[in-house]
Amino acid sequence: MQDAIVAEGLVKTFGEVRALDGVDLNVPTGTVLGLLGPNGAGKTTTVRVLTTLLTPDSGRATVAGYDVLKHPDEVRRSIGLSGQFAAVDEYLTGRENLQMVGELYQMRGSAAKSRAQELLEWFNLAEAADRPAKTYSGGMRRRLDLAAALVVRPPVMFMDEPTTGLDPRNRLALWEVIQKLVADGTTLLLTTQYLEEADHLAHDIIVVDHGKVIARGTADQLKAQTGGERVEVVVHDRELIGTATEVLRGFSRDGVSVDKHTRRLTIPVQGGAKLLAEVIRELDARGIEIDDIGLRRPTLDDVFISLTGHHAEDADDDGDESGDGSGSAAEDTGSAAEGAAQTGKDDAR
Ligand SMILES: Nc1ncnc2c1ncn2[C@@H]1O[C@H](COP(=O)(O)OP(=O)(O)OP(=O)(O)O)[C@@H](O)[C@H]1O
Ligand SMILES: [Mg+2]
Repeated sequence: MQDAIVAEGLVKTFGEVRALDGVDLNVPTGTVLGLLGPNGAGKTTTVRVLTTLLTPDSGRATVAGYDVLKHPDEVRRSIGLSGQFAAVDEYLTGRENLQMVGELYQMRGSAAKSRAQELLEWFNLAEAADRPAKTYSGGMRRRLDLAAALVVRPPVMFMDEPTTGLDPRNRLALWEVIQKLVADGTTLLLTTQYLEEADHLAHDIIVVDHGKVIARGTADQLKAQTGGERVEVVVHDRELIGTATEVLRGFSRDGVSVDKHTRRLTIPVQGGAKLLAEVIRELDARGIEIDDIGLRRPTLDDVFISLTGHHAEDADDDGDESGDGSGSAAEDTGSAAEGAAQTGKDDAR
């Protein structure tokens, strides 16, 4: 299968910051690549280079067979882009915005009209179609921006965090649109903070951090790399989280991930149900009451934590600290905690 998108050794620096530090990737035609990474990892920068909006310091890339540096116009004619921040004309209505894009791309008036109508329906915007975009909510703007990127049915699409800010119903609606596009042969590079989205939509996943690709594979391959099942325990008493962490450490293959806020402790294990029973007995023997306990397969979130040291959705800077007192990030408690939950950041490289 031919690759619709290829990048080799992309480097981009902004002053001191190496936003891209040798990124390689390829997306076979007709497939979806999910680009994951914490804030500041280099996802948007990658998308901007591939969509000709930014010139890399070094490296090369082709999109739809065209070199992004030598043939930017051909690349632009072959792609659709929905950026992280919606770019719509505030003073035009939703319908006018979409028709204008069609006209810019020299579609016939009637074709532009019917495509606009179709997209307005796909994105649940039909009712608001004839209101100026400045009256739209954030989620509506985002949907209009996504619709605008699809007006001309480009063979290669880039979507930078397409569902950030969408409610669950509209997120599902977008997933359906994406599946329709892919069924029609569109190639898609998608960045997202929602790992279930990558799990659901992407054929292949690349995890980037500090401008480097740190893992790649299908969702299943990445989960398998992370290894085995997880035991998850919700401790009843916040004061006993430290003791419970000690207990769980004895069963874990690789540290304990602690969410103080929800009192949830997670460990990777080998040994399934038998081990689960042992964990329960040991917690009981130490007088630790539990609200919930279970065995589950690793999720992409586990993959993300073990690779980068924090959850996708609460990585709010690119610093190495996840324990900011909010208690929602992966963090470890207790004295012997060094390097346990944060297996990622430092150990992963
Ligand atoms: N125009 C710019 N000038 C200076 N620094 C920049 C610029 N664009 C990006 N950076 C820096 O490059 C790094 C990568 O940024 P990028 O926007 O690609 O991250 P991202 O993975 O898209 O993050 P997010 O999840 O927050 O969208 C960051 O450290 C960022 O501050
Ligand atoms: Mg970004």
